[in-house]
Amino acid sequence: MSDRVKYVLDESRIPTHWYNVVADLPSPPPPVLHPGTREPVGPADLAPLFPDALIAQEVARAREIEIPGPVRDIYRQWRPSPLYRARRLEQVLETPARIYYKYEGVSPAGSHKPNTAVAQAFYNREAGIRRIATETGAGQWGSSLAFAGALFGIDVQVFMVRVSYEQKPYRRALMETYGARCIASPSEETAAGRAILAQRADHPGSLGIAISEAVEVAARRDDTKYALGSVLNHVLLHQTVVGLEAMAQMEMADDWPDVIVGCTGGGSNFAGIVFPFLGAQLRGGRRVRVVAVEPAACPSLTRGRYAYDFGDTAHLTPLTKMHTLGSTFTPPGFHAGGLRYHGMAPLVSHVKELGLIDAVAYQQTQCFAAGVQFARAEGILPAPEANHAVMGAIDEAVRCRTEGTARTILFNLCGHGHFDMQAYSDYFAGKLTDQTYDEAELAMALAGLPSVSATG
Ligand SMILES: Cc1ncc(COP(=O)(O)O)c(C=O)c1O
Repeated sequence: MSDRVKYVLDESRIPTHWYNVVADLPSPPPPVLHPGTREPVGPADLAPLFPDALIAQEVARAREIEIPGPVRDIYRQWRPSPLYRARRLEQVLETPARIYYKYEGVSPAGSHKPNTAVAQAFYNREAGIRRIATETGAGQWGSSLAFAGALFGIDVQVFMVRVSYEQKPYRRALMETYGARCIASPSEETAAGRAILAQRADHPGSLGIAISEAVEVAARRDDTKYALGSVLNHVLLHQTVVGLEAMAQMEMADDWPDVIVGCTGGGSNFAGIVFPFLGAQLRGGRRVRVVAVEPAACPSLTRGRYAYDFGDTAHLTPLTKMHTLGSTFTPPGFHAGGLRYHGMAPLVSHVKELGLIDAVAYQQTQCFAAGVQFARAEGILPAPEANHAVMGAIDEAVRCRTEGTARTILFNLCGHGHFDMQAYSDYFAGKLTDQTYDEAELAMALAGLPSVSATG
């Protein structure tokens, strides 16, 4: 094997199709239910929120879905993203493991999120939509949709979780630079926001609340649709460009992962890198161990219940079967804002139930320590969310050292942390503490899960 560090594909190797894992799963995920009737939703139920093309992708069974030419043209701006061999990190860890990372921080917004933002803006524009409302946690998704909106002439309105809005003023400024409007959530602009503020004026916000606000805005205006940056099948689908490219790059490296690691908030960057490899395995290819890494302060996969739940706090969204901490659960205000979501993507939850993936939860200070170790070896400064994946990969590499085995580890370095320097400063100042959620609040949120008949 050579001493190569970077595996770079030509623009002509940008995937032509997204990969739909549903085609290869032994069983499809349970249906999405209408919040009122509790019956499976049809396309008409989703039409107020999404354009038809995205609704079709949400329920698609085909293995491959063509990426429209204009979307591929925009992908050229940063795709294919590089795959790195973390040789210096391997040396620092004194591990026999081979560590690779796919770096999505090269996108204009700094993470994997534009992979779906551009696609969603494209389909909305095709359907004649001029306004999109959305939510954002850390601000990565909001800035990605703001960027995509600028390209397609769509007005973007972003409800940003208040704690992140205050922690990350420069993410807000980036959204405004792209021409979007950014509002701290909960806000006075929606009934859902006003109801929460009436109970607690200094509410830190949550992704569940911000989703309620954005959905409310989209549902009450005909010219406005809603866009989600994670969780839904079509979002995970768009992210598979990450794994498809990584497969070609692993072939270039004449290697193949034994273990794949990704961080999970709503599950999209994780699914993006993992699903194409999992699909190859399900079609008879090599078995790969998959590890989802989540924050210990918001552990939907490791502590949540697999049940039907709402995607938002005000219960405006359909019901999906997923690992959930309960839609009323408000996670503590830790720094990986993109991982502060009560639920997990239904497709990621389903593959977990099928036994195809493992999940672990880590505290934020150990993740920051891993991120700093990574930055000092590799130079790239990960986003706080991505630090969870770095931590997971380092854990695997250290295990290889202890066991004396040379496994190949691949992880998704889903974004850079250049807008998250306050978090790093807090970490160095010893101000960053491990957060625990309130067990009583979790029990209450789980007790409040909607009741759904046996079909679910
Ligand atoms: C850099 C980064 N990584 C990960 C996530 C979590 O989302 P997902 O699990 O959908 O990848 C976010 C969400 O905002 C993010 O900004």
